[in-house]
This record gives sequence, structure tokens and C-alpha cells, in this order.
Amino acid sequence: VVLTQDELKKIAAYKAVEFVESGMVLGLGTGSTAKHAVDRIGELLRQGKLNNIIGIPTSKKTQEQALSLGIPLSDLDNHPTVDLAIDGADEVDPHLNLVKGRGGSLLREKMVEGACKKFVVIVDESKLVKYLGGSGLAMPVEVVPFCWKFTAKKLQKLFEDSGCVAKLRNDCKGEPFVTDNGNYVVDLYLKKDIGDLQVASDAILRIAGVVEHGMFLDMATTVIVAGELGITIKNK
Ligand code: A5P
Repeated sequence: VVLTQDELKKIAAYKAVEFVESGMVLGLGTGSTAKHAVDRIGELLRQGKLNNIIGIPTSKKTQEQALSLGIPLSDLDNHPTVDLAIDGADEVDPHLNLVKGRGGSLLREKMVEGACKKFVVIVDESKLVKYLGGSGLAMPVEVVPFCWKFTAKKLQKLFEDSGCVAKLRNDCKGEPFVTDNGNYVVDLYLKKDIGDLQVASDAILRIAGVVEHGMFLDMATTVIVAGELGITIKNK
């Protein structure tokens, strides 16, 4: 049997939920893979197999999903230490560095997942890349709307040696996509490796107008990869 990509996502998500224990404060990720994990947590709570869970959602969308499942919620102001977060990713490199944010929730994800003791990433095997940006898809950067073109030009210039093209992300109506925090997203398309990721990260964050970027460096503690041949678990 050939499994669909969504079935693989679900397999990775269910595996990650095996790490959840009653009484935990849990970071709840965003996206089509994380959605399966949140569904599963809701199901186990309903069945009484888990209890005393507090969820910290990483987006308004996940907040709505968790509320509809009856998962008790809080935030980082009230629960600054998170036991475990489970979330998807757009790319995973061999060192378990990630690109996230194609769903636009990178800032809240980075805040919540940065506050976690354990961060379990769930992906299907199509997300594995040799280097970040290597899928040819976007590397997202959240920027303030004020003079976003100015910021986008600076971003493009920063990575011109990698053939970078910076584009404003639009929603389905062709209007600028607006994040949960009222910001825009500039997507960087790269033709080559950007080299030292920490240097690239620092340079992006030094541009006034940038709020956060979608590279999650040295944050994942475990990556669960679901593929046609089964599950692989990679630990930091
Ligand atoms: C949301 O902003 C993202 O970081 C998602 O976690 C990421 O895009 C993975 O999404 P899928 O699980 O839908 O591929």
C-alpha cells in the first residue's frame, strides 16, 4: 500500500503524542501535521487516557482547534516553562535545523518552542533537505507592514550571492497575507546554500523592520520522520 502524504503526517503526529504525559504543559503547533497531533491529544483527554494537560497554542487557528476539542489552554505569560512542544516543519536539514512558517505562524511558534524543554518535530520524509532553503520553496521572514518594500530589498541584498529573490506573501484574494500579529511575511527564494546559518540569522534580525525569521536553529530536540518504509526518530 502506498500511503498518502497526509497519512504519513498522521503517523508522525501520533508517534509524537506518545511522548505526552498527564500533567504536562504542551506547546501546540500549527499546520496540517500538527493538527493531527492536537486532534490526538484531544481524543486521549476525552478518553481519560491523559489528564491535567495545559496547551499553549502557537496560532489563532490552533487555539480554535484546541478549544473545540476541550483542551485547557494558557499562554507563556502564565506558563513560561513548557514541558514539550509538538509541531511540523517545512524543511529539516541533517543537523535538525528547520525552516518553519509557510503557514505564517513562525513568530508565535518560535516563542513557544523556544520556551520548551523538549521540542518534537513531526514531518513526512518529503521535508528532509540537504541544506535550509534546499527545497526551492520559501524561507519566510515576518516583517512590519511599515515600508515593507524597503525591508524586502534589504533582505534580498543580504543574500544576493545565493541568488535570493524576496517576495511579499499574498493571501488567496491577492491582498498581503497578515499574520496573527498584524505583520506581513516576505518569502525569500534561494538558489544556493546561504552558508553559516547563525551568521545569516543574526544578519536578518539586525535589519530594522524584521520581526522574526523562519529558521529554527538548534531548537528541535527530536525529529520524527514518517516515510514509506516506516518511522525514523532522530535525536539531537
Ligand atoms: C506554520 O507556520 C508552519 O511553521 C508549519 O508548522 C509548517 O509550515 C508545517 O506545516 P505542514 O505540517 O502543514 O506542512
